[in-house]
Amino acid sequence: MFIRTYGCQMNAYDSERMAGLLKPLGYGVAASPEAADLVILNTCHIREKAAEKVYSELGRLKKLKTEKARTGAAMSIAVAGCVAQAEGGEITARAPHVDMVIGPQAYHRLPELLARAAREKGEILETAFAVDEKFDRLADRQADGPTAFLTIQEGCDKFCTFCVVPYTRGEEVSRNIDAIIAEARSLVVQGVKEITLLGQNVNAWESAPPAGEAGERWGLGELCRHLAKIDGLERIRFTTSHPRDMDDGLIAALGEEEKLMPYLHLPVQAGSDKVLKAMNRGHTAEHYIGLIARIRAASPDIALSGDFIVGFPGETSEDFEATLALVEEIGYASAYSFKYSRRPGTPGAAMPKQVPEAEKDERLARLQALLEAQRAAFNKAQIGRVLPVLLEKPGRHQGQLVGRSPYLQSVHLDAPESMLGSIAPARIVDVTPNALAGELTTKGEAAA
Ligand code: SAH
Ligand code: SF4
Ligand code: F3S
Repeated sequence: MFIRTYGCQMNAYDSERMAGLLKPLGYGVAASPEAADLVILNTCHIREKAAEKVYSELGRLKKLKTEKARTGAAMSIAVAGCVAQAEGGEITARAPHVDMVIGPQAYHRLPELLARAAREKGEILETAFAVDEKFDRLADRQADGPTAFLTIQEGCDKFCTFCVVPYTRGEEVSRNIDAIIAEARSLVVQGVKEITLLGQNVNAWESAPPAGEAGERWGLGELCRHLAKIDGLERIRFTTSHPRDMDDGLIAALGEEEKLMPYLHLPVQAGSDKVLKAMNRGHTAEHYIGLIARIRAASPDIALSGDFIVGFPGETSEDFEATLALVEEIGYASAYSFKYSRRPGTPGAAMPKQVPEAEKDERLARLQALLEAQRAAFNKAQIGRVLPVLLEKPGRHQGQLVGRSPYLQSVHLDAPESMLGSIAPARIVDVTPNALAGELTTKGEAAA
């Protein structure tokens, strides 16, 4: 079996769970599609380019499937993920060599669908929504290294006018709290030190507290504080948050809970109120700036990250200047920025005053130059500091390990392999374009 994953971390999580589910059925992980009897494309629909990649990959796989058939070897092709959900029928029409189209809420049914596909030799289309059933029926989790993702929330009810996610992933659903705690514990027993809680709107997660705990409704802040009590779990992160769901409980937890890492991805998309309104983000630039001020007051060393879209329909050059001004005002440690991509079926696609491509290119280049300068400055400011680094994997050179700082920066340093999986204080001595260079501190030097 070979799984190719596109898109966000929730897809990465799902791919891992699919592999876990198929392993007991005898599907081992192959190094390439050539070596696989089953290829799963776990796809992303967020921008046009992402969706196009799927069809070009399917073109390549078609050739491979025909070649293999000639030598008597069978290969099944499954399309999973958000393109499967959004364009299921179109995929089977455009690519009849696809055996199975399976939406994100139906992965637990993979074994059954594979058996059916083998029996019936027809295409199978499975795109119903049933989030809790999905998680309940996925096999036990196997950890792979000291860090892990854990999906706690799926779907989105925000309906930003540019975005396909509410259509591909369905409405907001919070995963069951006992199942989340059990999965976290099982990961920690297997040596996981850092868990990143995932959701399209992770801070919309809510639940009644687990049996015996106080409170009426718990939000993400309470969940993080509760998970922080697990012995052996050292770091907690969460992504992606929406400004509208950033409540006081979560802000307080960020300031007070040591295991919650001081790094927050809080997309704003644009700096002009007119554009924010047209995007249906549900807040103004001033509200976002005020929110960040409250977060920084509670958690002074927090590093911020964001997502931005340039060239949303109707965005004038003054509107775009407002985005630059907002970025200047906030100061980001890292960020993702995109040209607006017109997605079929979303309100934005039908809006007048679409921005010409050349204009989008120019705006994106200016925004990225500013964000890149901020990122570089933030990285450089770490030089001389001693940061706790979670040592994740071997580095490129002999004797080198790569780890993560609290701010999610990669840190390269010389350390014995026996230290893999541990958190060690390292003095930051240099920066490269994409990482920090560190040195293990001698005993007695404290992290600061
Ligand atoms: N739920 C998250 C984001 C999910 S999609 C949130 O609300 O912030 C990740 C990012 O992709 C978005 O933040 C946005 O910046 C970008 N994106 C989504 N749809 C897009 C589109 N049609 N064109 C360009 N970028 C888009
Ligand atoms: Fe998309 Fe907006 Fe929902 Fe994020 S909040 S997933 S951008 S609709
Ligand atoms: Fe893409 Fe679906 Fe994630 S559209 S960004 S894979 S939720």
